[in-house]
Amino acid sequence: MKTRWSCGERTPPGKPGAKGEGGADVILAIETSCDETAAALIDGEGRLRANVVSSQAELHARFGGVVPEVASRRHLELIVPVISEALDEAGVTFDQLDSVAVTQGPGLIGALLVGLSAAKAIAWSRGLPLIPVDHLLGHVSALYLDPVRLEPPFLCLLTSGGHTLLLDVQEHTSFRLLGTTLDDAAGEAFDKGARLLGLGYPGGAALDRLAQGGDASAYSFPIARLDGLDFSFSGLKTALLYEVRGLEHGELERRRADLAASYQHAIVRALVERTLQAAEKIGARQIAVAGGVAANSELREAFSSAALAPIELCTDNAAMIASAARYLKPIQPPGYLDLDAYASRQLA
Ligand SMILES: Nc1ncnc2c1ncn2[C@@H]1O[C@H](COP(=O)(O)OP(=O)(O)OP(=O)(O)O)[C@@H](O)[C@H]1O
Ligand SMILES: [Mg+2]
Repeated sequence: MKTRWSCGERTPPGKPGAKGEGGADVILAIETSCDETAAALIDGEGRLRANVVSSQAELHARFGGVVPEVASRRHLELIVPVISEALDEAGVTFDQLDSVAVTQGPGLIGALLVGLSAAKAIAWSRGLPLIPVDHLLGHVSALYLDPVRLEPPFLCLLTSGGHTLLLDVQEHTSFRLLGTTLDDAAGEAFDKGARLLGLGYPGGAALDRLAQGGDASAYSFPIARLDGLDFSFSGLKTALLYEVRGLEHGELERRRADLAASYQHAIVRALVERTLQAAEKIGARQIAVAGGVAANSELREAFSSAALAPIELCTDNAAMIASAARYLKPIQPPGYLDLDAYASRQLA
């Protein structure tokens, strides 16, 4: 058994008699951990009232990856309009909020601090409680929203741009780590592979689309089979690099779809194999998949009988932060004013 960590106490959602439409608590959630500026509103029954995501992907594409300083500055420009749009969409004013939730980490510190500062300012100025949320718990909590409405216990494959985790989820507010990647995350492998194939950044979705027209058996890419339940994707990326380098001049264009399909197939096989091993090991009766890579079409097909996070809630968004916040204990003012962001969290 690896580390177990908890993100706060469980609190019953949807307390009777609370404020908001239908007698339900209204939470404004903010997410700025990487290059998406996002705000969402949720009520005490877990109904999403607004979900606004402004992606900076185009801004960072010319650099081939997220530039932290550029991301922070863009969050500063977008945070107020994005929150205003979410409030408008929900038909809610600041006066009707019951609490404010925000991603505290892991992520880019400068980016996180924009969201955290905005959340503190809104909460403090209204005398509202604040709910700090772990971004990874957020990804898992996307599964608690419509139409999935999953309930623990379940085994979760959390596969995103920065993480590839197998989690034993027994309750809404915590999880137990069973396995992780020893090098690249699966999303990173997609992005690096896409870059080698000339698909730009972030390339996961583009590689997915390209792979649909390719032959997955054209190339045989390696799958790392380590002891235990951990993953490794760096060898796969190197194998693709050698295949691309070995092509005759002008051949890449003709072979690109087959390379994408074969490369994607290797990533998906690795994810599926390990997840099924983990499920057997802990006797899990329910498998769930969340995080940006959970949007991948081949992975969704391979896991068709699992609980899959809704596609629009796979990559970063504030709806998943709002969902997690429903189960966490709010911090009353002024207890949150010295709260800091964290870049990473020791999981194992
Ligand atoms: N259809 C798809 N197929 C494969 N990968 C995809 C697809 N759509 C998105 N991705 C990948 O998902 C990742 C982004 O997911 P997400 O926003 O959850 O990651 P992150 O927030 O950067 O990382 P973390 O959550 O670990 O901090 C990128 O690597 C992107 O390429
Ligand atoms: Mg994420």
